[in-house]
Amino acid sequence: MKILFIGDIVGKSGRATVKELLPSLRSEHAIDLVIANGENVTHGKGINEAHYKEILSYGIDVVTLGNHAFSKSEIFTYIEKADRLVRPYNITPMDVGKGFIEVDLKGTKVIVLNLCGSIFMNNVEETPFDSMAKLLPFFKDKIVIVDLHAEATSEKIAFAHQFKYTCSAVLGTHTHVQTADERLIGSCAYISDVGMTGPYNSVIGRDITEVLDKFKGFEVKTFTVSEDKAQFCAVLIDIDESNRRARSITRLQIRP
Ligand SMILES: [Fe+2]
Ligand SMILES: [Fe+2]
Repeated sequence: MKILFIGDIVGKSGRATVKELLPSLRSEHAIDLVIANGENVTHGKGINEAHYKEILSYGIDVVTLGNHAFSKSEIFTYIEKADRLVRPYNITPMDVGKGFIEVDLKGTKVIVLNLCGSIFMNNVEETPFDSMAKLLPFFKDKIVIVDLHAEATSEKIAFAHQFKYTCSAVLGTHTHVQTADERLIGSCAYISDVGMTGPYNSVIGRDITEVLDKFKGFEVKTFTVSEDKAQFCAVLIDIDESNRRARSITRLQIRP
């Protein structure tokens, strides 16, 4: 089974790049399932309903989120009926939307789970280790793909070692910078960060001048998303359905 996981889609140029590249990637690699992190889809923070539907129309099957999941309050008006939207299981508010969903792919059950790391992250209710240990009994005999949205590479690597025989993939998101450490850990496909699908000339998606002003000590009230053409960052995973073990993970980075 081939799964494409697209890293944090940022703003308008991120959405445009997904629209441009995904159809050909999908057919070229015979992809069965496309998952994308959408926490920065709407103006760099959060996701509104129109943009959620827009990125699904480009060929994305499941959208995961992160610490910006609830940054656009509009999400509370549609999240309960958004059956392909997954919010981090372990951040507050815990009782809104779904922390994981199950996808049926020609009879094979795939769980897509979204967790936040507990280091340098706000609103985290319990550690991803505790959440995962609690949820595992419900995922028995299913392929489990985790979007681990976290700042610290150490936390992400440790998590993969802890769950290397129960997860088929542990994929880091959040830093917006792709790491070159993709590998198999046990039977699990792993990368510390998939990277960002967003403006290439930017500071992790934001306008460069504004971020520089902030670092220089000037007051900057809000950051604007850079309008530069986007890079595309993703990983392609191959999983053996018969034993749920990952066969390979391949890093994709397409620059404008
Ligand atoms: Fe992000
Ligand atoms: Fe994030």
